[in-house]
Amino acid sequence: MAEKYSRFAPFYDLLSGEFPVYRAGRVLGIRSLDLEPGHQVLDLACGTGLNFAHLQDRIGPSGTIVGIDRSAEMLAQARRKADRRGWSNIILLQADATTSSAASLSASIASRGGKDLSDATLATYALSLMKPWEAAWETMKDLTAPSGSLCVVDMQDPASRIPGMTALARVACRLGGADITVQPWQGLERDCTQVTGAAARGGHLQVRTGRRRP
Ligand SMILES: C[S@@+](CC[C@H](N)C(=O)[O-])C[C@H]1O[C@@H](n2cnc3c(N)ncnc32)[C@H](O)[C@@H]1O
Repeated sequence: MAEKYSRFAPFYDLLSGEFPVYRAGRVLGIRSLDLEPGHQVLDLACGTGLNFAHLQDRIGPSGTIVGIDRSAEMLAQARRKADRRGWSNIILLQADATTSSAASLSASIASRGGKDLSDATLATYALSLMKPWEAAWETMKDLTAPSGSLCVVDMQDPASRIPGMTALARVACRLGGADITVQPWQGLERDCTQVTGAAARGGHLQVRTGRRRP
């Protein structure tokens, strides 16, 4: 799976269906996070950094984005995007979110000038690719400050009346390596307080936001 994203990294932004489908979920998710100028936000499995522009609008140049991803090639695209846009407030780390301990990730973030715990954390279209997603969810939670906000944006079967739409969504997600039956936002619903939810694209995109228990 890592190899798949590494191979397609240069084409990911073009082929990921961002404008017709997936942008809607990331916009809803980032809007629902409690972000302020100066905040540090962790983007778990950040890929090529498609969330970064939306996050920058909220945290400004005094804030920090920490992007973690397993694929060096996806991170290289993210770094290129940051350099092109002149964003100097981005820390990128290559790590597997299912096997790295929160303590080691937190130490790596701090050694690069970030805060050990982030004010907010999100994972967009990522946990449903990970096995076991629960391990990545625990890490994501542990890297978030007490009472900080967390957001999971992920996919399930769309309830579409358009013939073939559900089958198309399933095939597209399977090609991307996602298991859209796992509903990883259930971790957030179970573990967070003040949980809110939203959906887009016929329910295909599911958004949950909540706060880490103090
Ligand atoms: C579908 S892409 C989503 C990227 C980005 N979050 C977005 O919204 O565009 C999934 C990303 O998850 C990363 N990934 C998959 N398994 C991972 C793991 N165990 N740890 C960290 N990153 C992982 C892949 O390298 C890829 O960049």
